[in-house]
Amino acid sequence: MGDQSSGERPTLRAFYPGSFDPFHLGHLDVVEQAIELFGSVTVGVLYNFAKDSGMFGVDERVELIRSSTSHLQRVEVEKHTGLAVQAAQVAGADFIVKGLRSAADFDIEQQMAQMNHSVAGIRSVYLPTEPSLGFVSSRFVREIAKYGGDVAHLVPEVVADALGARFGAGAETDPLT
Ligand code: PNS
Repeated sequence: MGDQSSGERPTLRAFYPGSFDPFHLGHLDVVEQAIELFGSVTVGVLYNFAKDSGMFGVDERVELIRSSTSHLQRVEVEKHTGLAVQAAQVAGADFIVKGLRSAADFDIEQQMAQMNHSVAGIRSVYLPTEPSLGFVSSRFVREIAKYGGDVAHLVPEVVADALGARFGAGAETDPLT
């Protein structure tokens, strides 16, 4: 379990797995909540060697999350392949955290949480997303950025810059031509 040597409230380590392609403000809110509630968090960028066809490469995602959380203490960012429960064990985590935006998220997360507990005995904790960010998803951020839409209010500044470098100077694809 976490460090209890200080005599104060024990610090627990949460493991926050995801694709984070890209990391957005809803993700950042979950990280901030996890630190506030539990003390420390490891963000795990999960990827699949066989089919990593993401927008940003895994190392770039890790760097963007590190930059996006540099104002926070007790945040680690790591990349992992394989199962989330294996990555959580490597990180020395006490439990997994996930953000919940909606009932649809709950249905997916509940099944994963029960499966993860069944195979590895690790518990999951759901954190409700800040309501003003409840509509934000990496998938739609990617889609809007790709066609030149403005997502600067939905992602950390470094992510907005990286998206601008990738898709700036107009859209990569003009759907009207
Ligand atoms: O950001 P995402 O895409 O919603 O994250 C999904 C993720 C990476 C957390 C999930 O797909 C996952 O845990 N993948 C690792 C493989 C694994 O553990 N599978 C068993 C799930 S019960």
